[in-house]
Amino acid sequence: MLKSLELKNFKVFADQLFEFDKGSLAIVGPNGSGKTTILEAIEFALFKRITRKDKTIRKVDDLIKHRQRKSKVKLTFIAPVNQREYSVIRNIYHGRTTAELRLEPDHAPIESTPRKVNEEIEKILGMDRHAFSALTYVRQGEIDSLSRSTPSKRRANLYNMMGLGIYNTTTGKTKKLFKALRKELQAIKEARKNLQSIKSLLPSDDEIQAARSTIKRINQDVPDFDVSSIETILEKVRMSVEDIDSELGKPNITDRPDEISHDMKISKQLQRILQTIPDIAEVQLRPHIRQEARTIFKEIFGDKYSDLVIDDDYDVSLFDLKGNKVSLMAASGGEDVCVNFALRVGMNTALQKHSIASPPPGLLILDEPGAGLDSHRRRWLPDAVQGLDSINQVIVVTHMEELKQSVDRVITLIPQGKGRQPLLEISE
Ligand SMILES: Nc1ncnc2c1ncn2[C@@H]1O[C@H](COP(=O)(O)OP(=O)(O)OP(=O)(O)O)[C@@H](O)[C@H]1O
Ligand SMILES: [Mg+2]
Repeated sequence: MLKSLELKNFKVFADQLFEFDKGSLAIVGPNGSGKTTILEAIEFALFKRITRKDKTIRKVDDLIKHRQRKSKVKLTFIAPVNQREYSVIRNIYHGRTTAELRLEPDHAPIESTPRKVNEEIEKILGMDRHAFSALTYVRQGEIDSLSRSTPSKRRANLYNMMGLGIYNTTTGKTKKLFKALRKELQAIKEARKNLQSIKSLLPSDDEIQAARSTIKRINQDVPDFDVSSIETILEKVRMSVEDIDSELGKPNITDRPDEISHDMKISKQLQRILQTIPDIAEVQLRPHIRQEARTIFKEIFGDKYSDLVIDDDYDVSLFDLKGNKVSLMAASGGEDVCVNFALRVGMNTALQKHSIASPPPGLLILDEPGAGLDSHRRRWLPDAVQGLDSINQVIVVTHMEELKQSVDRVITLIPQGKGRQPLLEISE
């Protein structure tokens, strides 16, 4: 849950504090007044990045308010995994960022490099940024992304939202480890083969002994014959044989292959287990998602449709009041938005109630969920937002006046003209 956001010279905001509370909040204001900027600042504070519908902002300096040199963002939030309060502070200056994570109130920084802060934040959120943003943040113009994608993409997207993407990442890591081990084993086998082939070219111990006795005899029989150079060569050969034998006897050649084979077996097993966890978790969660999404959808569309059914491939179908299946593709843009809204919220509510992978963030951010809806379809939005009470904190960015009545608090941004930060009007 978010507690507060402090912005200094961040885009249109020169110096602004936002305080967040439990319940629902609407952020309203005309185009360009800075609504999306607030959401971007939250994402930036958490993950040091901002993703838009079709691009990621690459130059951090673009976030600094025009004609200013540096910018600061401070976000205070309650971490889902331990319910403790943290602050993350990021400064932007000359194309670089600094970061600091503090345990509140007023504790010393627990992490103070951007990389460490990012890692720690993923830990205390209980999920990586993809999962967090998929689950909590419906970007402007993205509400229909679920229904518009192919079933396999939809499934992957939903897996991410369930926080199960982490298992795929870990499976990927075990696969990498397995490959590295196999490579090492091959290298050792190769080395052993080389050593053995060299050894086969060298004389055996017995042959060296025999040569020694022969030299001794020659030396006795023909004392004038100088055998010292032959002895030196023989000694060198003997040392080479000894070297090769000792190489072949080293633990790296003798024991390591067994260790590697053992590790390979374990990493294969781990891979199998990791691959099944998301499926099991997903199968357990699926009925709840279906039920929640259906309930929400029926509340919104009960006058026109009888049901919303999600099959095992996450293909979504609508049924009309007579029970006939209606293709989602045939649904209007507005209906599409509703299906997506129902799916997203269904997912969030299901996770909230039946969490498996990690505690859900308890936060849902919707940027312009009403965009693309006709006036009739827009009417359900206030009810839908009001119905989100199972989620701790809901932030809706909107132009819609109608939404003001259905939320607990409203922040209105009133533009003050070019280069000046908007005025804030807060109403309960
Ligand atoms: N570095 C910057 N310094 C000052 N202002 C900026 C900077 N970068 C962008 N802006 C301005 O910030 C404003 C806020 O944009 P934002 O996307 O937050 O608006 P919005 O309220 O979400 O609008 P919409 O309703 O169209 O979605 C824009 O007018 C933009 O020109
Ligand atoms: Mg916007």
